[in-house]
Amino acid sequence: MKVLSVSSEVFPLIKTGGLADVAGALPIALERFGVETKTLMPGYPAVMKAIRNPVVRLQFDDLLGEPATILEVEHAGISMLVLDAPAYYDRSGGPYLDATGRDYPDNWRRFAALSLAGAEIAAGLMPGWRPDIVHTHDWQSAMTSVYMRYNPTPELPSVLTIHNIAFQGQFGADIFPGLRLPPHAFATESIEYYGNIGFLKGGLQSAHAITTVSPSYAGEILTPEFGMGLQGVIASRIDSLHGIVNGIDVDVWNPSTDPVVHTHYNGTTLKNRVENRTSVAEFFGLHNDNAPIFCIISRLTWQKGMDVIAATADQIVDMGGKLAILGSGDAALEGSLLAAAARHPGRIGVSIGYNEPMSHLMQAGCDAIIIPSRFEPCGLTQLYGLRYGCVPIVARTGGLNDTVIDANHAALAAKVATGIQFSPVTPSGLLQAVRRALHLYADQKVWTQLQKQGMKSDVSWEKSAERYAALYSSLAPKGK
Ligand code: ADP
Ligand code: GLC
Repeated sequence: MKVLSVSSEVFPLIKTGGLADVAGALPIALERFGVETKTLMPGYPAVMKAIRNPVVRLQFDDLLGEPATILEVEHAGISMLVLDAPAYYDRSGGPYLDATGRDYPDNWRRFAALSLAGAEIAAGLMPGWRPDIVHTHDWQSAMTSVYMRYNPTPELPSVLTIHNIAFQGQFGADIFPGLRLPPHAFATESIEYYGNIGFLKGGLQSAHAITTVSPSYAGEILTPEFGMGLQGVIASRIDSLHGIVNGIDVDVWNPSTDPVVHTHYNGTTLKNRVENRTSVAEFFGLHNDNAPIFCIISRLTWQKGMDVIAATADQIVDMGGKLAILGSGDAALEGSLLAAAARHPGRIGVSIGYNEPMSHLMQAGCDAIIIPSRFEPCGLTQLYGLRYGCVPIVARTGGLNDTVIDANHAALAAKVATGIQFSPVTPSGLLQAVRRALHLYADQKVWTQLQKQGMKSDVSWEKSAERYAALYSSLAPKGK
């Protein structure tokens, strides 16, 4: 079975969030199920700099108005197709935002071009390789299925994975001519969305199967609260909707071999974590005493409940906890978290920015990770926490609900608990969870049991990759 995956970010080449981790790890996990994946992504400057000895596979004189080249290259065990189109991707900011944090005004063309390139490969334009199926991710590549639908060559099946329905790729109707689709594509059963154009909407209407990254979120997006306007479209495709929980790359995230972790450990040598804890405390300027360190590794946004952290930070400290916060995002939230740190030197440490190695060390040294998301399609940091013995304290929503077993009385007695769940996401809801955590932490035997049980959780891609492979086979049964 040959799969073309189209993604706007892929770890380790470029990452702004969990999508990159998934797009990087899933192809490797699928290999053992006989699935050969090539991953198409934009040639951002960081990507062009990192790749070595690429081979030109396809050239476009005019990909929605600009020249572009598809380069093939192996990188970190992933077979990549890089869309080298300097007019679209050679920019000084991030993948989606310019250096001042604003969306690039031509994002619609940048990601329509990526999608069109994917559809052309699906149509067999790239000599010597044609996929059996196409897998797209989020709004940035959702238009691939739309272009495939209007392509005159026989259409291949496609899968669209929703990683986060909050980002929909909506643009004014005036961009329609620039997309170069046939006039009848501007219709409700395609990309038209209340008189405008929706890239994710078009993908949801055109892909043969829709997946989302946890079973709970698959149910939630059918409701107005979580569907964010697309609940009706999703309901109309319910027979093609699948919830498949994300895994993690257990080789990249392994506390007994992780190169950035000072002192390695496993479930039987948890005491070794203390040295990592000391390093984290030093980095964040925290007192190295017996009070537990709760960490946060997150985009600092409303989705992630970071305003609730800011609102409760003083009380968390008063109750005897310490906070180590790594993240970046909304300027106002960054400001209130930094202010909390200034009020509590030695008790709250905040590092604004993106720091991949530190995110590993924090999981390896902190006592718990707090994830108070208002919605969370899957969430990966709780999975890293489970793997590293950093007990997850999570909001009861989406993938957080599906992956953490709450330490209630019955679960503790049965020794199956792996963390703490709470609801609702309010200051009192969170404080109640922190209170429970402190209570459990006070009994080190119970806490160690929680850590060990978490470390035994199967957070690998094994089962979910098998489910994707089965889905691909059901859509492209003749694919080999
Ligand atoms: P989302 O994709 O919605 O941001 P996920 O939990 O799926 O949430 O994935 C977030 C990923 O980004 C995780 O791998 C997490 O460790 C990482 N991450 C988030 N913020 C930072 C940061 N400031 N520094 C390093 N890694 C971060
Ligand atoms: C999105 C979601 C997150 C999920 C990730 C990978 O960024 O917000 O919950 O884990 O995609 O699927």
